[in-house]
Amino acid sequence: MANITGLIGYPVAHSLSPVIHHYWMRQHGIDGAYKLFTTAPARLRQTLLRFQKNEGMGFNITVPHKEAVLPFMETLDPVATRIGAVNTVQVREGALHGYNTDAYGFITHLTQQATPSLEHVVILGAGGAARAAIVALQQAGAVRITLMNRTWESAQALAQAFGCEAIAWDVSGTALADATLVVNTTSLGMAGQPPLNLSLQHLQSEAVVYDIVYKPLQTSLLKAAANRGCRTVDGLGMLLYQAQKAFEVWHGVLPAVDDALRKQVLAQLTEEA
Ligand code: ATR
Repeated sequence: MANITGLIGYPVAHSLSPVIHHYWMRQHGIDGAYKLFTTAPARLRQTLLRFQKNEGMGFNITVPHKEAVLPFMETLDPVATRIGAVNTVQVREGALHGYNTDAYGFITHLTQQATPSLEHVVILGAGGAARAAIVALQQAGAVRITLMNRTWESAQALAQAFGCEAIAWDVSGTALADATLVVNTTSLGMAGQPPLNLSLQHLQSEAVVYDIVYKPLQTSLLKAAANRGCRTVDGLGMLLYQAQKAFEVWHGVLPAVDDALRKQVLAQLTEEA
């Protein structure tokens, strides 16, 4: 039987996931398809109940459903439990089993591109992506994490839940003075979104700067960081590695993130730009 996998979100039309999963399915001789399921919040429950009948099916969950799907999961993996969000589901024995591969994607890409000291990590943002980054970084041994966010109250709530520090957004960037790693988890700097307004004047050149935005690949944050001599990490790898782990959950094999895949994904990104 063909393997049907896919993505539930709203919107999903511009997702790069079909290119990624079809590449690996071809590489591993897996017959099937990765489909996009545009699902408005009001239809989420109905869609999940329908998919629950498709034994062996696997699907990803994206914005805005990653938290809303939690009550429908029969089991949750420990990372999904800790983050409080699911991005990967497998249908087994008539039930939905939830996983979160975002933290894996985040840290795998980071450690492949750079070996930053985790002495003081400054995370920009306090939403779902920030939670995945915190869980990944704490698991990797981060000593101190500071959350800087437009809405201080959300940063404070997250900081309390995860044992971090919270500060208000500070355009002058003084909080970056002793940062060893800076991570942007907001959508600021993404095509169509406002720019990220933060001076890097205090940042040391030994620091690593990681932007999870991948459209454009070289955000203005990464350009400014590179100008200071900092090592930079773009957001495309996180997308590829979270997909790698999801593919393993569904198909039982960890596929390679190779240059030909990157090329195909980049070609699609450029085409859409
Ligand atoms: P995700 O799950 O992708 O992290 P989210 O949970 O909606 O999405 O979180 C978005 C993050 O980007 C938040 O930290 C948000 O800041 P607020 O908590 O102040 O809303 C941040 N963000 C989004 N748009 C922003 C903007 N225009 N200016 C500053 N921060 C913004």
